[in-house]
Formats: sequence, structure tokens, C-alpha cells
Amino acid sequence: MWMRYTIRRFTLAVTGATLIAATASAQDQVRVASPDGRNEVTVEIREGKLYYSLQRDGRAVLLPSQLGFEFRGAQPLRDGLRVVETARKTVDQTWTQVWGEVARVRDYHHELRLAVVEDGPAGRRFAVVFRVFNDGVGFRYELPEQPGLGAFEITEELTEFALADDARAWWIPAFRPNRYEYLYRASPVSTLDTVHTPLTMEFRDGLQVVIHEANLTDYAAMNLAGSPDRKLRATLAPWADGVKVRGRTPFVTPWRTIQLADRAADLAPSVLGLNLNPPNVLENTEWIRPMKYVGIWWGMHIGIMTWGSGPKHGATTENAKRYIDFAAANGFGGVLVEGWNRGWDGNWIENGDVFSFTEPYPDFDLPAVAAYASERGVELIGHNETSMGIENYERQLEDAFALYESLGMSAVKTGYVGDLTREGDAHHGQYMVRHWRKVIETAARYGIMIDAHEPIKDTGERRTYPNMLTREGARGQEYNAWSADGGNPPEHETILFFTRLLAGPMDFTPGIFDILIERASGTPRRPEEPRVRTTLAKQLALYVVIYSPLQMAADLPESYVDQPAFQFIRDVPVDWEDTRVLDGKIGDYVVVARQERDGESWYVGAITDEEARTLEVPLSFLVPGRSYVAEIYADGPGAHWLRNPLPIEISERPVDAGSRLTLSLAPGGGQAIRIRPAR
Ligand code: NOJ
Repeated sequence: MWMRYTIRRFTLAVTGATLIAATASAQDQVRVASPDGRNEVTVEIREGKLYYSLQRDGRAVLLPSQLGFEFRGAQPLRDGLRVVETARKTVDQTWTQVWGEVARVRDYHHELRLAVVEDGPAGRRFAVVFRVFNDGVGFRYELPEQPGLGAFEITEELTEFALADDARAWWIPAFRPNRYEYLYRASPVSTLDTVHTPLTMEFRDGLQVVIHEANLTDYAAMNLAGSPDRKLRATLAPWADGVKVRGRTPFVTPWRTIQLADRAADLAPSVLGLNLNPPNVLENTEWIRPMKYVGIWWGMHIGIMTWGSGPKHGATTENAKRYIDFAAANGFGGVLVEGWNRGWDGNWIENGDVFSFTEPYPDFDLPAVAAYASERGVELIGHNETSMGIENYERQLEDAFALYESLGMSAVKTGYVGDLTREGDAHHGQYMVRHWRKVIETAARYGIMIDAHEPIKDTGERRTYPNMLTREGARGQEYNAWSADGGNPPEHETILFFTRLLAGPMDFTPGIFDILIERASGTPRRPEEPRVRTTLAKQLALYVVIYSPLQMAADLPESYVDQPAFQFIRDVPVDWEDTRVLDGKIGDYVVVARQERDGESWYVGAITDEEARTLEVPLSFLVPGRSYVAEIYADGPGAHWLRNPLPIEISERPVDAGSRLTLSLAPGGGQAIRIRPAR
């Protein structure tokens, strides 16, 4: 009965899709391939257990990998299983993003749904749904309402990913303090302990495989536990009492995704996860505007201002007005002010229970600053650091967002410094996943865009709620201000591009021009001290390479005065019609070209690790026959990330679709190019 219901629901939900249902015998192998036929999933029962495997071009990617669950107070859903029915359909539709790396996304996949029943008296039922795209696979479990399975507590999800090759994996550790803020390391998959997703792997024959998840809305984040036999197992972030997921049927899990590409450069822009999220639910999206911003922020990180009250308090009315003037003069959309609200005094990391999200410090006139910003066509961006005091934040959420709305503020940066809630729930567990969802939904009701720091990883929520703009979720620029290890090494962003950025946009906060952080003490920092480990040109290139619909010019306004290179930050857009990754190797270099949304100009960003490189870039993405001007911001003579980071050479040359540019990148350097139609 349940099966008929499920199939009927599909028929209703999908227009233009072909649907075929069939009864499968328990021994059958059931297969489903991508539209181009290259990726094929096989599902089968072996000795009562359910397995899937994945091939690309006939060669194994995942060997038979188990599926199922363990519960508290109930038998595992794992044994004595039978496939009782299968249903197939094809979807091919193209949808438009409110904003993004590309304007339009094609969702073209073949779906296979398998209804599974457990033998024996319990006879519990579930379904596994596979969607196979040309760029990878997504699958999820569905637990229908049924007498033997109502409320449940999952203690582990038994999903496996049995890698066919001892691929090289770029990873950050899971279940450690400090969330996702680690430098990536590369090692064979057989040596991994427990890691976060997205997990990017390169097979020895060059195949790229990325395991991640999509549409994580009421579940625990999936981490991956390794084993010497290359079998990665899903392992979920827990509630305080150790349970992983609480639910009640009917219930669906997030999608488990396996993105596939022949070359690293083909991994981005990644749309697999977006296609597995529900479409936009916001009727009016006109208020959602990607923008560049400046903020009272870097000063705190380099120690010349404080979040808390006192003589160095950054968030004063006067200071905020100075930043607003700077933003208005340079065409930036927003000004972030951190430390404006009561609660920062003392050790703010411990202040999760005392932060107010409505009461400003006495030297910050919130209504006056918001009005001053509005009058100049700039938005005041609110800041809500919670220090993981979630109950304190949720109690104030409605009032705070109502206040911001009344003041014309349409963006809030949230913060979750800390590893557990006050009650001991994991930062990436179901409790927190529900919290982040609540913030996104509440924000949408008040016309507020969210930039989440110390977030849960991005699993494509921005498709459904395009007010979920960007997030941190990796080591960003701030590590260059204070990290004990001296800051992010030159290869860092060349890895982020192929790992963290595949999940979604990142508020990395590029654009530090005072690379040696001289403003902190009046003298350049020594090589071993925390400082920016790139050239100046690479800071510009990051605006193109690291995608974010909110992009900060992170330095103090005074650092941009009399700096011709600042023109590139003024010009570069934050919303794109098209994105092409022209070349790249994980951890070495990457070259990206992006076309501005609804415009004709293109922007190219190229970055390298500590090696100097010369890269040839054909401009064949330009419209043939049209003349353009390339404005080039290149590493200057002798530039070097450690010894001599500042030389930058700015030049112009005419180009067209037949041109080839030769990009010379200094060690730890980069190049940023604006290509605009010739007038
Ligand atoms: C960490 C965030 O990443 C940073 O941007 C912010 O300034 C501090 N927390 C304070 O909230």
C-alpha cells in the first residue's frame, strides 16, 4: 500500500518525467545509469544485506557498499532485506538561480527508487532513492510511516563508501575542537581517521571523486570514518546523550552525494548538491542582493580595536560613519559592524548566555548609524555572535530580526565560536542543524540575508532559501592575523577551491593590502609571525577564485588609500552569469574565468601555491569578433609571497576571443584580470 502511495506521489510531483515501475526479485541486481551512460549504480541484496556500487566508464569507483541503520531500542535495519519494487524516472529541467556562480543550472538525471522490506515479524519498510547525473550520484533513504516504525532514534547510519582505489584524499579532521578550521592535508584514503565532507579524492588514474551531502535540514552532519581497506563509513555528529538523529516517520535523510569528474578543473562549479535541494520557496527575492562590503572587523583581529567596550572599542558611531562614507564613496553595498551590542566584555567566547542582540553599547547609536547608512545607499550589516549560546539567541531571534528590519538592515552575519552547545550537543549535530534552519527561515520572514560564520557545512540550502547567502566553514583570512602557526600557507586557497568551495560560497574575506600587518604595531611582522602569505596580486585574484555573493574588502579603509590596485576590488562583481575553470591542480594552482551576471565583462583570477608558474590562458570564452580591453593586475618584478609581497604591475591591452594571455605568477602569487568590451 505504501508503495502505491509513493509512486503516485512521484507521478504528481514530476512533470515531463518518464516513470516506470517494476517488481524486483530479491536476487536481482538493479542498475541505473546517468543520461550520458558513463556513471552506473548497481544495487543488490547479498545474504540479506543491501549494497550499492558505482562504476564510471565500466571501471569501479565504489565497490559494493552497505546501506542501513542502527537504532536505540530497536534492531538494526540491515538484515533479512528484500527489494520488493523498483520505480524509475527521468528528469530534465533547467532552472535559474537567484544568484550564483552560473545563472542557469540543468538538472538532468535518471532516478531509481527501490522499496525494501525486512523479513520477519517486524517487517519494517524503507526506500532508497538514487539519482544519477552526468556529474555524479545522489542517494537518500526514505522511512515511510508504518506500524513497526514510528518515533525512532538513530544511533548510526550504516552507509558505506568502499573506494575501489587507494585514492589521494584532501581532508580535514572531524570530531575535533575548532570545527572545520584546519589546514587540509593529503594522504591515501586507506590512512584516514575521521574526516569532514566534502572529501575530495583523486584516483591514481586521475578520476576525481568527492563525497558530500545535500539538503541537510533535520539530521546530523555526516562525517566519514576511514579504515585500512578503504571503506569509508558514515558517522554522524551526536546529541549530548550520544543519539545521532531523532525522528518520526515519514522521514527522509539528506542525500549522500558522490561527485565525479575526469579532471580537477571539471569539479567546479559544483551543482550536484543544488539539484538535490528543493526549489526556491521565497516568492519575492528582490530584496536578496549580493554585495561587496567593508567592516569594523580586521582592526579587532590585528589587535588595534576591541569588540568589547573601552578606549579601543571599534564599534563607535563615529567609526561606523567613517566606514559608511568609505563604502558609499567606493560603491560598496554594506558595512559590517562587529562589537556593537552588549555582551562582549570579559571573555566573549564564554559569553553565550549574556549577549544581547538588540541593545547597543552606549557609544554606538544604532538607529542613527542605520539611518546614516540608508541615506547613503549603504546597508548596515548586523552581527550576532552567539558563542554557542543557542537558547539565548533563539529567545531573542524574533525581536532582533524585527528590530533590524525596522532599521532597514537586510543582512546579518552570525557567529558560533565554540564546539558544543551549553547542553553538550555537537556543533554539527541535529540540534544545531535545526537551529541553523530556524535562523534561515526566521531571517527570510524579516527580509534578512544570512552570512554564517562557524557554520554547519553548506549542503545547498541556498537553492530553497536564497537568503542563505554565504558562510565561513574553513580557515579564512582571519588566521593570517593571529594564528600561532603564522597564517594560511600559500597553497591553502588552491586546496580550498577544490574542497570546501565545492560545498558552496565562502566568506573568506580577501583583500588585505597591508600584507605585513604593519598597522598593528607600526613595524612589519617577521616572517614567522602571523601575516598574509600571498602577494598583493593574489589578494585581488581571490575575489574571482573564491566565490561568495557577499565579498568583503577586509582591510582597514586607510589601507586602500592611494592604492591603484584597489580599483579591481571596486570593479569586480559578486554575481555571475557563467563560470569556467580554465585549469587547475589541487594544491598547486587554479585559473577561473567568470562572466558578470547580465553583463558582458569577464573576470579572470589565477592563483598559485609557493611555486612560481607561467600559465597560458586562451580567451576563447569571449564573444568572437568583438573587441575587449584586458585590465591586468599582475605580480610585479621580484614579487614573492614571503620576501617581497607588494610589487604589482597594472597594465591594459586589447584582446579578443582569439587572444592568448601568458600569466606569470610569482611564488605565492596571483593575477586578476578584468576583460571589458572596448568602448
Ligand atoms: C569568528 C568569525 O569568523 C570572525 O569573523 C568574527 O569576527 C569573530 N568570530 C567574532 O564573532
